[in-house]
Amino acid sequence: MNTPAAYYLLLSLHLLGACVWVGGHLVLAARVLPRALREKNAALVRDFERAYERIGLPALLIQVLTGLALAYRLLGGSWAAWTADHGVARVVQAKLLFLALTVALALHARLRAIPRMRDDNLPVMGAHIIAVTMLAVFFTLAGASVRFGGYPWFAP
Ligand code: HEM
Repeated sequence: MNTPAAYYLLLSLHLLGACVWVGGHLVLAARVLPRALREKNAALVRDFERAYERIGLPALLIQVLTGLALAYRLLGGSWAAWTADHGVARVVQAKLLFLALTVALALHARLRAIPRMRDDNLPVMGAHIIAVTMLAVFFTLAGASVRFGGYPWFAP
């Protein structure tokens, strides 16, 4: 995993997963959701979710696996390094927090919000979509800061 080729592969998979996860949610939040709210048409969101799920969930799984491997490469295996109070460790901790929030929202959407989604209660699902999209953008901003030692979010 420490060879340049393995690192390149991991980072490329991580970036491809990011494209799918962040890009899909931005399309949903900025194009599909406003139209569904305007037309009071929950089917637009449901159809997008159904088509996107098959590529979005594997992409998130790839993010988690490659992200953990990339973090291991930077921090090693010691608990002290992962819980440290410095730049890169702080970014990884932030990403794990965003992940926990994303999984909680996804489970809530899947088990409660999507089955109950109707034309007249679409704003509930809309709030979900905005929250997951904002988390996706935070993931990206945090990730891009790693090569700067966590700057500007977590001063090195
Ligand atoms: C949807 C979720 C995620 C997105 C969109 C995302 C996005 C990104 C982006 C854009 C980068 C910058 C790569 C570069 O500098 O060229 C990055 C790097 C990184 N991400 Fe993520 N990430 C996600 C999830 C995770 C998770 C769950 C972890 C695990 C803790 C993680 C750990 C890392 C690490 C350690 C780096 C730095 C890699 C390096 O420069 O060596 N990411 N991520």
